[in-house]
Amino acid sequence: MFSTINVNLPSSSYEIAITPGGLDKLGDCMNGLQLGKKVLLVSNPTVFEHYGKSALNSLEAAGFDVCSCILPDGEQYKNLKSIQKIYDTALENRVERSSTMVALGGGVIGDMTGFAAATWLRGIKFVQVPTSLLAMVDASVGGKTGVNHPQGKNLIGAFHQPRLVLIDPDVLKTLPERELRAGMAEVIKYGVIWDADLFQEMEKCENLHQIEYLMAPMFGGDKSLNKSLIDYILMRSCQAKADVVSKDEKEAGLRAILNYGHTIAHAVESLTGYSLVNHGEAVAIGMVAAGEIAAKLGMWQAEEVERQNILIEKAGLPTKLPAGLDIEEIIQALQLDKKVKAGKVRFILPIQIGAVRITDEVPSDVIREVLQEMR
Ligand code: NAD
Ligand code: GLY
Repeated sequence: MFSTINVNLPSSSYEIAITPGGLDKLGDCMNGLQLGKKVLLVSNPTVFEHYGKSALNSLEAAGFDVCSCILPDGEQYKNLKSIQKIYDTALENRVERSSTMVALGGGVIGDMTGFAAATWLRGIKFVQVPTSLLAMVDASVGGKTGVNHPQGKNLIGAFHQPRLVLIDPDVLKTLPERELRAGMAEVIKYGVIWDADLFQEMEKCENLHQIEYLMAPMFGGDKSLNKSLIDYILMRSCQAKADVVSKDEKEAGLRAILNYGHTIAHAVESLTGYSLVNHGEAVAIGMVAAGEIAAKLGMWQAEEVERQNILIEKAGLPTKLPAGLDIEEIIQALQLDKKVKAGKVRFILPIQIGAVRITDEVPSDVIREVLQEMR
């Protein structure tokens, strides 16, 4: 049984389909979507070793003619050289206008496959099969695709929506725990910016970073649901992202709220060389900072800030700055953020659990004070 969410956009609408064991139904799910016969599957060795065979078998059994491109694993390979490899495979295998690319992997593979699909032959169709929690709840939905430039993350890209997002929660069993926690930071983000019920449901859980706990059936006492916490988390998070993207596909306004916690996160990630702290950990630190800033500005109640920070800790995520980081360097790095306009740093600040406000009126002294308290 699939749970489905619709992403309704003026240009192209599509479905997010969530079901345990869904990978084996990939081919069937793609049939009927006018995706052509030829499929180029893009993955990396880590994911392909676990799930490549199931994906290929399912696609072939459904009548697709499949070729594949396996790129090296890691954010450091999210670049134009990897895109060239996808183009080369497409050329060798005569991938046509009517053909489809399929991304099988985390956000790195998803963003690159989407970008290759957006540009090959001026744009062909693509399908997202996200395998990390972060890709399931965030990267695979919404059509942001791209690669990194040596000078900065995601500087090259295009908006290109997938034709289908197929989520099989079972694949999370092999995801390293640190990656699970990284995805959970984005889930907590949705609770704070959009979905107070999701937030409260997570508050009731004992553990937010062990997949066995998250996959145990019948949470919340309602046995008729026969769902696990992870099913619920995926549904509510994807719904939140779909709601926001449907209202503002190209980030003219509202979509910016998805960057909650990301202003300080980007500074922390770049100052720690993108290795010491991963993206989810940086977002957790960024959310704590944004919450404290909102409280100091009188926008958010201290009691709710505390509830957010407790949830972040329960997900095994950090709430303090990494040792050795210089506060003034963080303040300077904020000026390099992609979203800085006329020298003003933009913050997404909560006003209550489930609602935020976008502002560029945060005094540097308040940021400095909060960062000092977070050492
Ligand atoms: P990732 O793609 O690097 O995956 C993390 C690690 O987990 C990798 O080593 C991967 O091989 C491994 N992995 C993935 N699924 C697995 C599984 N089921 N079992 C075992 N190992 C598995 O990183 P990520 O956190 O998924 O995504 C981060 C990327 O997503 C960044 O490049 C970021 O810019 C991008 N992103 C994009 C958007 C968007 O809207 N397009 C949003 C958020 C993040
Ligand atoms: N992850 C931010 C966005 O999709 O807009």
